[in-house]
Amino acid sequence: MLLDVSRIEAFYGASQALFGVDLSVAEGEAVALMGRNGMGKTTTIRAICNLNPPRAGAVRLGGADLKGRRPHHVAKLGIGLVPEGRRCFPNLTVHENLVAAARPGRWTLDEVNALFPRLQERYAQMARSLSGGEQQMLAIGRALMTNPRILILDEATEGLAPVIRQDIWRAIRRLKAEGLSILVVDKTLSELLPVADRCVILENGRSAWSGKAEELTTELQDRYLGV
Ligand SMILES: Nc1ncnc2c1ncn2[C@@H]1O[C@H](COP(=O)(O)OP(=O)(O)O)[C@@H](O)[C@H]1O
Ligand SMILES: [Mg+2]
Repeated sequence: MLLDVSRIEAFYGASQALFGVDLSVAEGEAVALMGRNGMGKTTTIRAICNLNPPRAGAVRLGGADLKGRRPHHVAKLGIGLVPEGRRCFPNLTVHENLVAAARPGRWTLDEVNALFPRLQERYAQMARSLSGGEQQMLAIGRALMTNPRILILDEATEGLAPVIRQDIWRAIRRLKAEGLSILVVDKTLSELLPVADRCVILENGRSAWSGKAEELTTELQDRYLGV
């Protein structure tokens, strides 16, 4: 397994949010991390990246235990995070954001331009002046520029206009097609399920169901994802 998350528990202060989350992502696999609001998806992702380190359980990347690694070191080891809320450096230009964490590999400025042509037109602008959709593209471009072994996307299409969402999904499908390993959280099942090889569903901070995307019946969707 490329990413192996085993029985992790995480807390906010004294309040426990994760009670045992298991998930794995194989090389070249796209895994959808699912569950209703507040079930622990973002907390799981933050625990994987040691932004909120797990208090129990283990996270391994390519077999190496990530315990005790600083978040920037986790990034260096190959986890490219597109965090919830599309955080970029607001007072750096688009170009500066892209090169800030760049590491050599398949993803270069030219390749990010080809993926998101809209970004190139904005190169000299401050990130804060971009539209929400452009900031999201920048956040994805930034993560790709680190040439990660796995890309993690937390609600990357949330709150964006439909045409921009389509651009983002097109990019995600391309990344999947070229074999990038992906862990993705998104509410739009009609876009998410065709991309996902497997799904892991969280309920109240625990892994409640996992299986192939085509095994996620409407009954299971109603039970775990319905409102
Ligand atoms: N900063 C925080 N402080 C305290 N509790 C939090 C914080 N962020 C999230 N939580 C709680 O942790 C649980 C999981 O939240 P989260 O991981 O954000 O869920 P999801 O991403 O699935 O919507 C929820 O009960 C939420 O209220
Ligand atoms: Mg979330």
